[in-house]
Amino acid sequence: MKHYRIAAIPADGIGPEVISAGLQALEALERRDGGFRLDVTCFDWGAEHYRRTGAMMPEDGTEQLVAFDAIFFGAVGAPDVPDHITLWGLRLPICQGFDQYANVRPTRILPGIRSPLAGVGPGDLDWVIVRENSEGEYSGHGGRAHRGLPEEVGTEVAIFTRVGVTRIMRYAFGLAQSRPRKLLTVVTKSNAQRFGMVMWDEIAAEVAKAFPDVTWDKMLVDAMTVRMVKNPRSLDTIVATNLHADILSDLAGALAGSLGVAPTANIDPERRYPSMFEPIHGSAFDITGKGIANPVATFWTAAQMLEHLGEAAAAARMMRAVERVCADGVMTPDVGGTATTQEVTEAVCEAIRRENVDFR
Ligand code: IPM
Ligand code: MG
Repeated sequence: MKHYRIAAIPADGIGPEVISAGLQALEALERRDGGFRLDVTCFDWGAEHYRRTGAMMPEDGTEQLVAFDAIFFGAVGAPDVPDHITLWGLRLPICQGFDQYANVRPTRILPGIRSPLAGVGPGDLDWVIVRENSEGEYSGHGGRAHRGLPEEVGTEVAIFTRVGVTRIMRYAFGLAQSRPRKLLTVVTKSNAQRFGMVMWDEIAAEVAKAFPDVTWDKMLVDAMTVRMVKNPRSLDTIVATNLHADILSDLAGALAGSLGVAPTANIDPERRYPSMFEPIHGSAFDITGKGIANPVATFWTAAQMLEHLGEAAAAARMMRAVERVCADGVMTPDVGGTATTQEVTEAVCEAIRRENVDFR
């Protein structure tokens, strides 16, 4: 039997609620499947750790994580701790320290969930956004001078490297190639930003030569928002910079019905380090402790984690269970239901246990 070591970091807000839900579903899958075991270690890092110790995680945090096969992450953010501290103190050091340069964000309209777009239902919107996750606008390169004075300056420099752009482009073309439509849209803003963004376009054209069976096109990020809304069927795999994809993936989540169902995987494609799996929605402290957080994004990212670990059959079973439960209308209020987090979780675990077709 295969054993995988999973580091769970529930962290802040609704993070602990959805990670607990995700672990219950994973356990149901483990029992059902019988071929693998997850050894889960929980880490109590996050805003509470910061209040206690002045740091979001211990100084050797990433060293403690390096031996794990994957990281299952909740959310960071708290009302009383500045966002840049929670983010740069925990999530970004893991993403950047482990060179998880490919951020993969699938979006689909699940059965039973309504898109705000008229006439668009399951099957009409099936995208994967590949977000460059190691550089660009999130490089942390910049500074402030003459603080507080009228002549104060703040810079926030986006860094694009040939290595960084080439590797994300290869990943995106490879992913597009693995999907039935073999269709990739490369997003930039190369009309206004004529250095780094023009380099993106050039590298896309170079990398494309190695993927002759992938159809690809280019979009400017502003026009891309219009295309996503007006012609969702025309898109499949999408690659964009760290910031552009951050924005586009929120739009994608909203068009698919709710950010509450949107998952994300922070992947080191070379597998030198553990990859990290998390729901996109964040800590949502307005609903923390109410028991109504949508666990679907976490189930979906757990499926991404299983897939990454090589347990594709279990990943597919998780998604079939989630789709069944959504189709049955067992959903949290953010997607128009009345169920609690725990009710949805129990329904998904039950669907995992009861599914009679064994795909292994
Ligand atoms: C996301 C989030 C984060 C990001 C926030 C919390 C900084 O919006 O994962 O999309 O921008 O990377
Ligand atoms: Mg975002």
